[in-house]
Amino acid sequence: MSDNLFDIKIGNVSFRNPIALAPMGGITDSRFANEKAKDAGLVILGGYNLDAATQKAASEIVARGREEFESSEPLKLIESEIKAVNNGPVVAVNVRSSTVEPLIEAAKLVKDAGVILELDAHCRQKEIIDIGAGQALLTDLAKLCDWIKHIKETGVVLSVKVRANVVDDIELVQQIESAGADILHLDAMQEGAGADLKLIKNIRDSTRMFLICNNSVTDIEMAKDMFSRGADMVSVARGVLEDSALVSQLVNNISTQQKDMGWYNAPKHVCRGEGDLRGLAFCCLPVKPCPVHNTIKKLGYSAQEFTDVKMEYAKDTMLEFGDSTCFGSLVWCCKISKPCYLRDGVLETLGVSDAEYMRLKKELADYIIDNAKKPING
Ligand SMILES: Cc1cc2nc3c(=O)[nH]c(=O)nc-3n(C[C@H](O)[C@H](O)[C@H](O)COP(=O)(O)O)c2cc1C
Ligand code: SF4
Ligand code: SF4
Repeated sequence: MSDNLFDIKIGNVSFRNPIALAPMGGITDSRFANEKAKDAGLVILGGYNLDAATQKAASEIVARGREEFESSEPLKLIESEIKAVNNGPVVAVNVRSSTVEPLIEAAKLVKDAGVILELDAHCRQKEIIDIGAGQALLTDLAKLCDWIKHIKETGVVLSVKVRANVVDDIELVQQIESAGADILHLDAMQEGAGADLKLIKNIRDSTRMFLICNNSVTDIEMAKDMFSRGADMVSVARGVLEDSALVSQLVNNISTQQKDMGWYNAPKHVCRGEGDLRGLAFCCLPVKPCPVHNTIKKLGYSAQEFTDVKMEYAKDTMLEFGDSTCFGSLVWCCKISKPCYLRDGVLETLGVSDAEYMRLKKELADYIIDNAKKPING
């Protein structure tokens, strides 16, 4: 599989594909990652317990029969575990602490090793919550944001792992972004109902952070449901315990989609109510009553401004052409998965492949959002 098929980057970190191994305490160590996730774009080791309080909590959890990584020298363990992951995936390290200082020490180590730090604001084991760590951080936003700011002062690339539907997610995500986090790792859990796809779309429309999503992904269709709502990456945890080949299968499938379609996480059309703001790249000229008008309002565009911004992008690109299409230019044309002989005829005449057309639409979506009159992240 080519390492350049995807163009997925955060700062100077480049991922070869958008599939990640999610952390599972006591399970996802370097050996597990090498065995089950050798093809992944990202493997997240841990969670590791950094201070005496989380270490004590972990021993209590182990005593009642749940697995956890136990070590009185977590930084040494983390250092050797990072080195033990085979070349290929980017590595991240998921960590818990009841105070910020150990997180800063871990951030320095992790940054020097060239990997990503992930703050666990997700664990809901009672012993962890009782000491103000894990998911307890979601209900103390001031503390969470203060920690993020301090950790980011080290210059580390920081992911924050959160569980959905615990607090007001939009408020949470916007505060995490303002505090300086680079990545939001969202467990899109809805109690008893699998992944909350609508929430993924709403979060995509509220933040510019890199978005990793998970929950209950066991096949490519579920992963695609998350990608099409705006996930930049999809991670898997329990599914890998059930099926050792899951990560490789997801990587193969999404790589084929990227080769054929050029935009692995292309959104749905806005008219169906499922498309996030990026779906405006596929919208018609705004001349009839339809959901485009409410959608562009979210970005502060009038119909004329929206028309102008799309035409501005199209100028000097292949999307400028297409006299024979509904609105006279490919810039107003639908997603490639919607069959249309008019658009396809133009693409054929221009010698533009389906993947190249979609790549241009992706750039157009970024352009529309980058130039919004009202930024999506408040
Ligand atoms: C046994 C187990 C241990 C976990 N440990 C952690 C952890 O230490 N840190 C963390 O952020 N998430 C942890 N998680 C959550 C997973 O990373 C993931 O968000 C969750 O399981 C949903 O994804 P899935 O449906 O693919 O399993 C754990 C999950 C399981 C099943
Ligand atoms: S402009 Fe076209 S694609 Fe967009 S919402 Fe309206 S009908 Fe749907
Ligand atoms: S020409 Fe086809 S692809 Fe373009 S807007 Fe019309 S229906 Fe959609």
